Amino acid sequence: MEHQNYSLSAQQTKLSCHLESICSGCQYLHLDYDEQVKIKIEQLQQLFDHSQIPYGPIEFLSAGLGGLRCRLDFSLQGGRLGLYGKGLHDIVDIDICAQLSPPLQNWLTEFRSYQWPVDKGSIRLRVSPHGKLGAWLDFANIDIKMILEEKNLLKKLQEKAFVEIGQRRKVPVWTGTEFKLHEPQLNVWFNTWMNTIPVDLYCHVASFTQPSLSANKIIAQTISKWVGSFQEPRLIEFGSGIGNLTLSALASAKTILACEIDALSLMGLEKTLEHLPESLDEYKKKLNIFRGDFQRKIVQDFKEFDGILANPPRSGLMNFLDPLENLSLLDRPQFFIYMSCFPESLVVDLGKLKNYGYKLKKCVIVDQFPQTTHYEVLTLLERGN
Ligand SMILES: C[S@@+](CC[C@H](N)C(=O)[O-])C[C@H]1O[C@@H](n2cnc3c(N)ncnc32)[C@H](O)[C@@H]1O
Repeated sequence: MEHQNYSLSAQQTKLSCHLESICSGCQYLHLDYDEQVKIKIEQLQQLFDHSQIPYGPIEFLSAGLGGLRCRLDFSLQGGRLGLYGKGLHDIVDIDICAQLSPPLQNWLTEFRSYQWPVDKGSIRLRVSPHGKLGAWLDFANIDIKMILEEKNLLKKLQEKAFVEIGQRRKVPVWTGTEFKLHEPQLNVWFNTWMNTIPVDLYCHVASFTQPSLSANKIIAQTISKWVGSFQEPRLIEFGSGIGNLTLSALASAKTILACEIDALSLMGLEKTLEHLPESLDEYKKKLNIFRGDFQRKIVQDFKEFDGILANPPRSGLMNFLDPLENLSLLDRPQFFIYMSCFPESLVVDLGKLKNYGYKLKKCVIVDQFPQTTHYEVLTLLERGN
């Protein structure tokens, strides 16, 4: 099932997993998918009601009941590789996971043949849109040192996959006699969509990306469509990261100022721009990048923008909205596109935007996290006159 505008049906839509009774990863596995859809819509409606946000129909878009993820963070504990167990501090050893895309499941199966002499750590596995395999080994320094000195395990892993190590995402390079840790390297690990054109995104295995390539296609195309419903708007974006929404919005925007705190993500976005295909070359001139902490202080004048695009962290926008206060209603940007995987902070910010004269025009749930309590919300707000 690809992009589906989900309608509730009577058919059985339950996924099965042999680890259901012990693994904490999927909280809704016991429910039919129809029921999950209903619960997610109702939960969002309750949050809107509680914060007195007027809303219309909530559209629900699904990319499937499972098998969506192209990256997952596994915990390693005492030889077990998996996720935390229900109500336990122990890790459930996961051989097959209904959340993984088929290429990621194959990668996990293969990865499980490596025996890590590490008691505790975290491992991210990732598969790129072109099938490249990645592993990010986030272990204590003493364990990293031991693995570099042992050599063979890492050499074997590097025959299959691109490897990043530790919080600084360093890349182990074999010199002929030993492993040295080199600076992080940008590669294509994700992609976005400018309307119907896929665009490769450069980042690290360890970078923040949306969890699923197929669900992200729905997100990116929704953003392109919404931005395209305005006349060549000038946009300011909060939390552009590696440029996932930036590029999908750029397809229809006149200009975008992308604001982001994380230097490594912005290096990825810059490399993505350098490697844009020639046919998309004209878009490069439309994008400006600005690095800073925009939850604290924003120096840009919102009067110069027609629209705001935001996909903040769980804490929401915080002070990013403050400059709207000092502008008259008609000087405020005409529209606001707000995407969030944390509806609790979304409704707080929508409450503030209501006070600044914005009304919710469209609301879409993109179910990036089927079988779990989580979901992504995309909203389009327009300022009244
Ligand atoms: C949920 S991610 C969104 C990334 C991007 N939209 C995507 O789809 O991949 C939130 C982004 O906000 C950035 N961010 C968090 N706090 C910030 C701040 N105070 N100022 C600017 N950016 C911030 C994070 O670094 C991250 O890239």
